[in-house]
Amino acid sequence: MAKKKILTIFGTRPEAIKMAPLVKEIEENSDALESIVCVTAQHRQMLDQVLNLFNIKPDFDLNIMKENQNLWSLTSDVLLKTKDVIDKVQPDVVLVHGDTTTSMAAALSAFYAKVPVGHVEAGLRTFDKYYPFPEEINRVFTDSVCTYHFAPTDMSCENLIKSQIPKEHIYKTGNTVIDALLYTVNNYDEKIAGLELNPDYKTILLTSHRRENFGEPIKNICKAVLDLVNIHKDIEIVYPVHPNPNVRKPVYELLDGHDRIHLIEPLEYAQFCTLMKQSHIIMTDSGGVQEEAPSLGKPVLVLRDTTERPEAVEYGTVKLVGADKDKIVSAADMLLKDENEYKKMSEAINPYGDGLASKRIVDVLKSIK
Ligand code: UD1
Ligand code: UDP
Repeated sequence: MAKKKILTIFGTRPEAIKMAPLVKEIEENSDALESIVCVTAQHRQMLDQVLNLFNIKPDFDLNIMKENQNLWSLTSDVLLKTKDVIDKVQPDVVLVHGDTTTSMAAALSAFYAKVPVGHVEAGLRTFDKYYPFPEEINRVFTDSVCTYHFAPTDMSCENLIKSQIPKEHIYKTGNTVIDALLYTVNNYDEKIAGLELNPDYKTILLTSHRRENFGEPIKNICKAVLDLVNIHKDIEIVYPVHPNPNVRKPVYELLDGHDRIHLIEPLEYAQFCTLMKQSHIIMTDSGGVQEEAPSLGKPVLVLRDTTERPEAVEYGTVKLVGADKDKIVSAADMLLKDENEYKKMSEAINPYGDGLASKRIVDVLKSIK
């Protein structure tokens, strides 16, 4: 029997991290599946860091990233350029991931070519179209054009059913981020290049890059950080700053030069895992970090008002604090002062997966007639 051609398309750092274990698993099943990888390079440097770590050599690199790019050009570049790849490869299935503009436009491109699409990390929802923006609509749209829905949790399966997706097209697989995390923490113990942490201090890891936090919200987050380092003389903040100019400018203007605030470049994934493990508290608006940190037993303060990942909030290891300066300071303050509260939030739980999601997805791909 001819092998099934699986064309995997991704473009940003989080998609690459979450697709890498799946690409490896498809490659390991080369008796039945042929793996073809197309990167849009919506992100350039941050994507390349992941490709290097997982040793993935794309068959197609569309190299679309532009400085301070906008959603319109991004969408049209992905749509047009993936068309040529799909025409050339003639895949049996296209796989996309999550809720980025790459995922949404690549899924549309495959749909126009009448190629069935598999959506990895399907079914996440806030049910609020502007939060997160544009990701909520990207994933609703992607789910609507996809044929195979690989949902990480029970809740994401239920969301798909609510969205009228036929039950027989929904597969509960767990999230491939846990495959990536477990593989990385079990195989690497990377030192963080150029960063000396003081063993007498508690480390707070911070990341923020959401479009809805641009402007005043990101400034409020920075002001909360300044308050925290002033109140607590035994903490240091490590912030790998996202290269988006809308993030970098205010962050460097407000936080640069403080001896207990380390603004660093985005870390290669294995080093970032080391940093998560070494941290006492994590403050983030990232989706992926919200999923990884509970597995490592690290309390997370989410710098957003809503989340499409409510599972860890329900377990009590993740708390929503938004971009409100006072809320951030008081939640961090409580974790730093109250041992019981810290203990409750630092229980290691794994609501997002068991490390076998990629295997389950490949089993489905192999079974498709
Ligand atoms: C994108 C996704 C978001 C995801 C995030 C992960 C969309 C609309 N947004 O947002 O869902 O959470 O990635 O990080 O798909 N840049 C670089 N080098 C890089 C990456 C980015 O210089 O390796 C700079 C460029 O100036 C680029 C800008 O960051 O134009 C914004 O990148 P973009 O992908 O549009 O937005 P993100 O905020 O990264
Ligand atoms: N990450 C990384 N280096 C960093 C910051 C984050 O490798 O300096 C990883 C993190 O562990 C997670 C992913 O990047 O797996 C999350 O990416 P991001 O926050 O950019 O996007 P989101 O998940 O919010 O879409």
